[in-house]
Amino acid sequence: MVKVHDPVFPRLAMRVAFITGGAQGIGEKTARLFVKHGAKVVIADIQDDLGQSVCKDIGLDTATFVHCDVTVESDVENAINMTLAKYGKLDIMINNAAIVDDLKPNILDNDLATFERVMKVNVTGVFLGTKHAARAMIPARSGNIITMGSVSGSIGGIISHSYSSSKHAIVGLTKNTAAELGQYGIRVNCLSPHFIPTPSTANMINDHPEKYSKVYSNLKGVSLNQDDVADAALFLASDEASLLVPVMFLGFQGFLNHNKSSVMLPRSMAFSIFNSIQPVQEL
Ligand SMILES: NC(=O)c1ccc[n+]([C@@H]2O[C@H](COP(=O)([O-])OP(=O)(O)OC[C@H]3O[C@@H](n4cnc5c(N)ncnc54)[C@H](O)[C@@H]3O)[C@@H](O)[C@H]2O)c1
Repeated sequence: MVKVHDPVFPRLAMRVAFITGGAQGIGEKTARLFVKHGAKVVIADIQDDLGQSVCKDIGLDTATFVHCDVTVESDVENAINMTLAKYGKLDIMINNAAIVDDLKPNILDNDLATFERVMKVNVTGVFLGTKHAARAMIPARSGNIITMGSVSGSIGGIISHSYSSSKHAIVGLTKNTAAELGQYGIRVNCLSPHFIPTPSTANMINDHPEKYSKVYSNLKGVSLNQDDVADAALFLASDEASLLVPVMFLGFQGFLNHNKSSVMLPRSMAFSIFNSIQPVQEL
């Protein structure tokens, strides 16, 4: 089967993409796929050595690393300015950087500092990324902002309270900024996968192998991986999705329609919650 990883026609030729948290995981896969499709990418991350080595591996003529903590406005501002200085424009912003904290189902076990840290990276970081991408895109009257959400931004009971809160919050930011920025030809969308093995989730898999192996897929014999999310990001970033706004790309493999499992909730409760979900717009 021919996959989008072997492009016959590059779908992002001449495009410039900025990817936060692109030093590893889904962000790295997305960067590599975008370059295969003709884009120049800027990887913005706090893991300097890793980010630089990924760019070197991709090719320094097409990939650039910039140190950027998404919670620090001057970092985000400078990184976008560097992108504009180097490439003269910004076509695609991928707000991908995020962190996840330990799963503590009992709210009483959750501490304020951890909650605030997750909200700062996962929500403030997306706010700053969206703001400074818009600053670059509004004068160009075009652009494409894609925020990496999660199914835990639509349903409860599957991951920590802070992470779920943060992913719900960025759905609101996506809807609001899509409503505002459409007048400038800027699309804002949210891509919300369910659980995928990546460096950040390896611990969870090891801690709860019975809960995370295959249970999230309603499609028999397949499970979601990082390449699938990169493919979806490529679609949203390409001209093929030029009329899609605002879309909450939800429910990979039918997760929201029907699912047999939940990490935090008893199975009976999980069923009633999943079945009552009405996604904003499910593709
Ligand atoms: N892996 C999953 O199961 C899953 C499921 C749904 C959604 N997501 C979302 O997909 C995105 C990528 O997830 P992943 O699993 O690839 O994560 P990951 O932990 O493998 O990669 C995240 C990257 O973000 C970077 N980062 C963290 N804090 C940062 C900061 N303050 N500033 C800049 N960079 C920072 C990290 O250094 C890392 O390179 C996240 O938004 C995540 O919430 C992941």
